[in-house]
Amino acid sequence: MSLFSPSEDWYYKKVSKDEKMWILISLVLCLTLFVWMVLWHVYGKQNTSDLTYRTSTAEFTKLSEAYIKINMVGMDNGVPIVRPKPNSDVFVLAEMWRWSPILILEKDQKYKLHISSKDVMHGFSLQPVNMNFQVYPDYDYVLTFVPTELGEYKVICNEYCGIGHHTMIGKIVVIEKDSDLKQYGYDNLKKAPEVITTNRTAPLTEAEMVLMGEQIYNLKGCVGCHKTDGTSQLAPSWKGLFGKDEKVVENGNITSVKVDEDYIKESITDPKQKVTVGFEKVPMPAIPLTDDEIAQVISYIKTL
Ligand code: CUA
Repeated sequence: MSLFSPSEDWYYKKVSKDEKMWILISLVLCLTLFVWMVLWHVYGKQNTSDLTYRTSTAEFTKLSEAYIKINMVGMDNGVPIVRPKPNSDVFVLAEMWRWSPILILEKDQKYKLHISSKDVMHGFSLQPVNMNFQVYPDYDYVLTFVPTELGEYKVICNEYCGIGHHTMIGKIVVIEKDSDLKQYGYDNLKKAPEVITTNRTAPLTEAEMVLMGEQIYNLKGCVGCHKTDGTSQLAPSWKGLFGKDEKVVENGNITSVKVDEDYIKESITDPKQKVTVGFEKVPMPAIPLTDDEIAQVISYIKTL
């Protein structure tokens, strides 16, 4: 009680036996935990590799796109699937709002995962094992690891990154043999369209344009917001979009536009010009595409 001042000599009174015991117990506990901290660091096998490279969002995006193009074995809901070779470098890109690609890994093999972000900070949270890493733009974060258990793992984003944050779920599948792929529906992967190489001189046929457009849709991440099944949660669905009359906000006024080639081109290169009513709160980034690529995307949209 502080109402009464302590007696003069309280400080010099002998400490009671009980009190000494408790002080000793807490001291031993503190030291034990401290020693464990060091031991766990050395023997716990829980450490991330402290390897990080400086990169740029443009450079890493280019790298991961090139990586996916070469190694893609199929698609799952618009997200490319890659089956990397053991001991290889694997590139995973976080962007608003998806993880790409999906990985098929082999048990007890080593992989060197490079993770970076295309836009803002995301959180790589591997579930259900609950391993967490931060993913920054401009840094290539390297995780060297050996998957030791079979199964399907989800990569949840645990850093709030905008309105689509909760939809940002990636996947890693760990298998032992090819027949394991069946349970994940990956045994009969529809091969992604071949990249049509640049040394082709003849113009693309309309069917090839559509294939290329679909590939751009997946690789450039349009699929993260624009769905093709008619649902428009984060951005207008592309289903039945072409030729439609859309209400848009232009310079603060609501007007109506016809979705045609010019409008789509403007929406890709300068998305802030005319924003579809209802989606003003979800800013779309400008996507750097060549005129050819834009034409291919338009061909794809037309088929939906
Ligand atoms: Cu990415 Cu939250």
